[in-house]
Amino acid sequence: MAILDNDSLLARYRFACALAESGGKRAHEFYLRRDRLQIDHKGTDLQDVVSMADREVETFIKSRIAEAFPEDGFLGEESGTSDANNPVLWVVDPIDGTSCFLNGLHTWCLSLAIVVDGEPVTGVVYDPNHHELFHAHKGEGAWLNDRPIQPHSASTVAGGVMGVGTSHRVSCADFLPFLDALLQHGGMFIRNGSGALMSAWAAAGRLIGYYEPHMNPWDGLPGLVLMREAGGATNDYLADEGIARGNPVLLANKTLYPQLQQWVKQPLR
Ligand code: IPD
Ligand code: CA
Ligand code: CA
Repeated sequence: MAILDNDSLLARYRFACALAESGGKRAHEFYLRRDRLQIDHKGTDLQDVVSMADREVETFIKSRIAEAFPEDGFLGEESGTSDANNPVLWVVDPIDGTSCFLNGLHTWCLSLAIVVDGEPVTGVVYDPNHHELFHAHKGEGAWLNDRPIQPHSASTVAGGVMGVGTSHRVSCADFLPFLDALLQHGGMFIRNGSGALMSAWAAAGRLIGYYEPHMNPWDGLPGLVLMREAGGATNDYLADEGIARGNPVLLANKTLYPQLQQWVKQPLR
């Protein structure tokens, strides 16, 4: 991590928090007039939707980063990347939970992470409907607005609610065994349509953890930093080309993590 000194890293962290708020507020303006947005489908998966709001907010975020830190790289859900190998990479989903966004559900957010030399160091999730900024930076703790957060204290899965997510990028067989085991052990689950937001809720102790068999980096990375800085456990998401291909995500407190890990079908590092 010698590429940037601590002051430069902290400057990016502060900038990321302010940018997530301003980008999220822009997204919220689109949300208030969502009935006028044209909805397009990505590829053949009819559940994978996108609108002008996603594209415009990502363009806004990308241009602000380019102005402030022109030497850094960018990877966004909507525009992809031309420099994924840049040692300082901003990874952004302008609207996570697009389906909720377009259908008038309040569970969506802006999701942003910074990876430095292969290590996720900053994670920010902004929920504009509730003015909640979840943010964490390596060595600086994890926060919800100005309050420190920590994972749920449950020692069994029956002690709270687990966040889960899945998509058509994986098969039912990749996901259902986990759900089955969770329910068999007295657990319960919620899926709110935004994996990044549920991960932040897990870091803030609202959920006992979060599991999804495959997450893209713009959805998975912020929660990883948030949970680690909050004092919980996570898998090594960036193993096996996680940035390029995505990976499973499992987040929980340190007591529950080993049990939950056993129920995951995919190899977890
Ligand atoms: C999706 C959401 C969903 C998760 C998927 C993501 P999008 O992102 O986070 O909760 O299960 O893996 O692709 O399409 O709403 O940005
Ligand atoms: Ca997403
Ligand atoms: Ca998205």
